[in-house]
Amino acid sequence: MSKRTLRAGLVGLGAMGRNHARVLSSLDGVELVGVMDPAGDSAGAARGAPVVATLPELLALGLDYAVVACPTALHEEVGLGLAGAGVCALIEKPLAHTAAAARRLADAFDAAGLVAGVGHIERFNPALQSLRSRLEAGELGELFQVVTRRQGPFPRRIADVGVVKDLATHDIDLTSWVTGCDYASVTARTVCKSGRPHEDMVAVVGELSDGTMVSHLVNWLSPLKERFTAVTGQRGCFIADTLTADLTFHANGALDTEWEALSAFRGAAEGDMVRYAILKREPLFVEHERFRDAVEGKDADIVTLDQGLRTVEVAEAVLDSARRKTSLPLQSSHPRNLTTVAQRS
Ligand SMILES: NC(=O)c1ccc[n+]([C@@H]2O[C@H](COP(=O)([O-])OP(=O)(O)OC[C@H]3O[C@@H](n4cnc5c(N)ncnc54)[C@H](O)[C@@H]3O)[C@@H](O)[C@H]2O)c1
Repeated sequence: MSKRTLRAGLVGLGAMGRNHARVLSSLDGVELVGVMDPAGDSAGAARGAPVVATLPELLALGLDYAVVACPTALHEEVGLGLAGAGVCALIEKPLAHTAAAARRLADAFDAAGLVAGVGHIERFNPALQSLRSRLEAGELGELFQVVTRRQGPFPRRIADVGVVKDLATHDIDLTSWVTGCDYASVTARTVCKSGRPHEDMVAVVGELSDGTMVSHLVNWLSPLKERFTAVTGQRGCFIADTLTADLTFHANGALDTEWEALSAFRGAAEGDMVRYAILKREPLFVEHERFRDAVEGKDADIVTLDQGLRTVEVAEAVLDSARRKTSLPLQSSHPRNLTTVAQRS
């Protein structure tokens, strides 16, 4: 029996929407039936699909699901429109511009019984997927610290949210996901140097529910583009570069020493370094395959709206801490928000 082709729509044909159009138009079992963007499609990025200016026009094409890649401040309005029309949705990160809006979206899709996910694409990066499996298998033993750095030049097009909600939400989501732990507290400082109303640089120090220390340095003010994640634990340190999708392990040394004073020192010593050969599939393609499978009713691992909501809540705590120049404890999240890492030691 032949499988039915899913009818997909796309909302927003900007920098990210063009990538979604490329993937949607080449995905098995899916047809890109229409795109909505009030600015039209002068570059031909819709790949032959009709381009309309309003959501009712897009819905009239008959959709099984839609990908939402319009500016973050519009995710709520568009998402609620899709949920109200019974259409499943993959919504770009961050889920919404405020935690209250993210909660309304999660509630609406939940009440409608529709499949919905958030485009936290770093979860589909091969380096982080391999890192997570290795942590889950206990290769690092007890975790001590997660450090991320996400720096780069200013993106002129993002004007509706600051760097915390736009970029640091990647770091918040990936840190919870690779460790399987929620955030327990955050302390942050921000600066705003570009003349926009929102912050463009943030430093965060936090603690996860199991006591693991985290730090995130994220900004739009660096000529250097960097996407760095280091996880340090009992047996060494993993470094993931999500620009090149490389994962490296720096093992703690295990050489015996006859030097009495040194043998009493029980800290880490330098050991072997391994860069893993990993299959590098395009993260956006994998994200779309998983979401298509979920819409088809298969058991696919997607980023849930509850998890997307939690990430926005942590981002708001970061901004609140920076505003009040204080450390903020976080209420624990709903248990269904977390994907647990089974055994680490
Ligand atoms: N997952 C990732 O790594 C990633 C990367 C970039 C952007 N994003 C997210 O994707 C979203 C879009 O970001 P972008 O960089 O593509 O922005 P962009 O400004 O390049 O594109 C936004 C597009 O939305 C269109 N638009 C405006 N109002 C609209 C409406 N009411 N309905 C439909 N379309 C509308 C604009 O005309 C524009 O073409 C944001 O939420 C952003 O956070 C995610």
